[in-house]
Amino acid sequence: MEMENLIEVKNITKAYRKQKALDEVTLGIRRGEIYGLVGNNGAGKTTLLRILCRLLKQSSGELKYAPDVNVSKIGTLIEKPGLYGDMTGYQNLKAKALAIGYRCKKEELTGLLELVGLGDVKKKMTVRYSMGMKQRLGIAMALVGEPELLLLDEPINGLDIQGINDIRNLLLRLNREKGVTIIISSHILDELAKIATRLCVMKQGKIVLDESMEAIENSLNGKTIEEWYLKVNSEA
Ligand SMILES: Nc1ncnc2c1ncn2[C@@H]1O[C@H](COP(=O)(O)OP(=O)(O)OP(=O)(O)O)[C@@H](O)[C@H]1O
Ligand SMILES: [Mg+2]
Repeated sequence: MEMENLIEVKNITKAYRKQKALDEVTLGIRRGEIYGLVGNNGAGKTTLLRILCRLLKQSSGELKYAPDVNVSKIGTLIEKPGLYGDMTGYQNLKAKALAIGYRCKKEELTGLLELVGLGDVKKKMTVRYSMGMKQRLGIAMALVGEPELLLLDEPINGLDIQGINDIRNLLLRLNREKGVTIIISSHILDELAKIATRLCVMKQGKIVLDESMEAIENSLNGKTIEEWYLKVNSEA
């Protein structure tokens, strides 16, 4: 069967005892899209991302990937990056490459460290990293193996101003130059709006809005994106 979308989610529900973390979620991720996920704490963003990368199994509903998606080409950063504290950033990247069976030159991994602004901390064990440094390394970890799809849960959380700027440019470049499809959640809505081609607003496990950024911008009528969100969220 032909699949136009890269990923299709159909009526997915994830229930924890009585509570539904996801409630009949249906959506499609197009190729080459930067799909932004936004919603209050507990809305279900992380749960959705976990299900998308099969870290978690849905209670019901269907998840379909286009047949040409290579599972080893999916890069993820979901909640805290899993890092070995007694290893350096480089060693962590190397361990990741080995784990996914990705063979590459040393320069490719050091290049990733440069890319996320960690080129200067070659010897530091990650247990001694600051929060933002861990987050930067988490992004580099997601990029090992030249992923075609990135699933990023709050990747700019804790980054400094320079870091946010660097990561924004990095994601835009990966998307535009390499055609990487990106699904990204963030509470920093201004920032998300700067890169997303589509925004999905979640509330209590449901999708309340899923529209192109262009359509959203056209509907702002002088309102800020924050005002727009608060209205969409309260009316849902
Ligand atoms: N392991 C679990 N057991 C029980 N309930 C859970 C579990 N994981 C998540 N939930 C519940 O599912 C709902 C959605 O959680 P989720 O982490 O997906 O939200 P989120 O949108 O990522 O929130 P945040 O913005 O705070 O990261 C919440 O009500 C949460 O309490
Ligand atoms: Mg979350």
